[in-house]
Amino acid sequence: MSYIEVKNCYKTYKIGQNIIKANDDINFTIEKNEFVVILGSSGAGKSTMLNLLGGMDRLDSGSIQIDNIDISKYNDKQLIEYRRNDVGFVFQFYNLISNLTAKENVELACELVKNPLNPIEVLNEVGLSNRINNFPTQLSGGEAQRVAIARAIAKNPKILLCDEPTGALDFQTGKQILKLLRNLSKKSTVIVVTHNYEISKIADKVIKFSDGKIKEISINQNIMKVDDLEW
Ligand SMILES: Nc1ncnc2c1ncn2[C@@H]1O[C@H](COP(=O)(O)OP(=O)(O)O)[C@@H](O)[C@H]1O
Ligand SMILES: [Mg+2]
Repeated sequence: MSYIEVKNCYKTYKIGQNIIKANDDINFTIEKNEFVVILGSSGAGKSTMLNLLGGMDRLDSGSIQIDNIDISKYNDKQLIEYRRNDVGFVFQFYNLISNLTAKENVELACELVKNPLNPIEVLNEVGLSNRINNFPTQLSGGEAQRVAIARAIAKNPKILLCDEPTGALDFQTGKQILKLLRNLSKKSTVIVVTHNYEISKIADKVIKFSDGKIKEISINQNIMKVDDLEW
């Protein structure tokens, strides 16, 4: 049994008369501490899948097992607990609270969960020891994303879900963020959604989406070092 098992997962959206098959019979497995890239062009269904994995949306049919529990059977209250305690999210545009400092953003997340890590220690770990009392507007994009990552991992989540985490960053800064995420997969299972093929080279496993379906699943035999990435 794998750590994550997605089976026959369907998710449709209705817009007027149109039915969009955002996830159309998705099947894959992910092992604990795997660093996985979900790759595909815009509209392929990547974010839909990530939101289902994170309990932010519900599938139409199928199952999503995480650590031996089928989260698709959770009721609303169980889903809230799941999102709170088991999942860390990192978004393209950081989504920090602008009137709270870096430290306060992380502390707020820690207040909600059962087994948080120490906010200062986590901010140190992501390389922000000298920025803890700054507000988001006083931070560069890369620093803001580090705060967002600190906030996500301070919850001590089982899985870390990242939707285009380098999408708003320049190349060098993006690489530093990828290095950080890659290292975090030693402690948590990390799933990164991207449209950037180059990023898939640093993954253990690549799940390729196209038009709501899985086109290919591959295990990288030669995992590229983040430092060697170019785009
Ligand atoms: N909440 C929604 N309501 C209606 N359509 C949606 C919604 N979310 C996504 N879609 C549609 O589902 C398809 C897949 O979207 P998405 O998962 O966001 O793709 P990706 O992240 O790969 O760009 C797209 O056609 C998108 O327009
Ligand atoms: Mg998306």
